[in-house]
Amino acid sequence: MLELKNVKKSFGGVHAVDDVSFTVKEGEVVGLIGPNGAGKSTLINLITGVFPCDKGSITFLGKDITGKPPHMICKAGLSRTYQIPQPFYNMTCLLSTMVSVLNGKERENMSLSDAALEASYYLEFVGLFSKRDSLARDLNLYDMRMLELARALATTPKLLLIDETMAGLNPVESQNALDMIRSAQDQFGITILWIEHVMKIIMSAAQRIVVLHYGRKIAEGLPSEIFNDDFVVKAYLGDKHVKSK
Ligand SMILES: Nc1ncnc2c1ncn2[C@@H]1O[C@H](COP(=O)(O)OP(=O)(O)OP(=O)(O)O)[C@@H](O)[C@H]1O
Ligand SMILES: [Mg+2]
Repeated sequence: MLELKNVKKSFGGVHAVDDVSFTVKEGEVVGLIGPNGAGKSTLINLITGVFPCDKGSITFLGKDITGKPPHMICKAGLSRTYQIPQPFYNMTCLLSTMVSVLNGKERENMSLSDAALEASYYLEFVGLFSKRDSLARDLNLYDMRMLELARALATTPKLLLIDETMAGLNPVESQNALDMIRSAQDQFGITILWIEHVMKIIMSAAQRIVVLHYGRKIAEGLPSEIFNDDFVVKAYLGDKHVKSK
């Protein structure tokens, strides 16, 4: 479904993403992990066209999307959440989710009332329907992250890129978010590439894991293989993990 070949991106002298190649198959949940600054969010920005790649190519559903603008990539069926939520702060939850609906796949002729209905459905899905008329700027972090998820789902993606949806949430909120993402996967049949720092979550949610370190892919494999890979343990998981093994 998604194929990255030798993708590179530098910011000045920083090799944020350095010659990274991997694939995501339809129906998979692939985890993307690595230390702070490893290049995970940059990779999502390259896949979604926020930044151009310096080198390499990205193919989605058999089409070369390298260098395509974000709105076209979104219409092709690829959406994402942001690590730092990016709502339209002065718009209501309903209106901002309608914007996503109308920018999704094959929505050119949709009426505003149909868009409102569909947006309501996704707000209900993430538990925000009762706050549909609240301004995004008035939401707490959990609700803001749920709005982010609703807006990403409202574009009806085939592939969803999740950038640390659990960051800053308490254990109960994290579990709710995890359940929600899992039911989105079942209900909407979406494939997921998932950045997550909480190892317990990503190890249970992902079928395969890709590890980045200083922009390079240092490992890829089953969660059990990654957990037992000495290099990954040294680079990312750390001594605490070794002691608890
Ligand atoms: N727009 C930018 N301009 C300059 N440097 C950037 C930019 N975006 C990212 N970087 C740099 O690229 C490197 C990779 O950053 P990135 O945000 O992709 O890491 P990350 O793996 O998502 O980290 P974290 O786990 O902290 O979110 C870092 O050194 C970062 O400072
Ligand atoms: Mg990041």
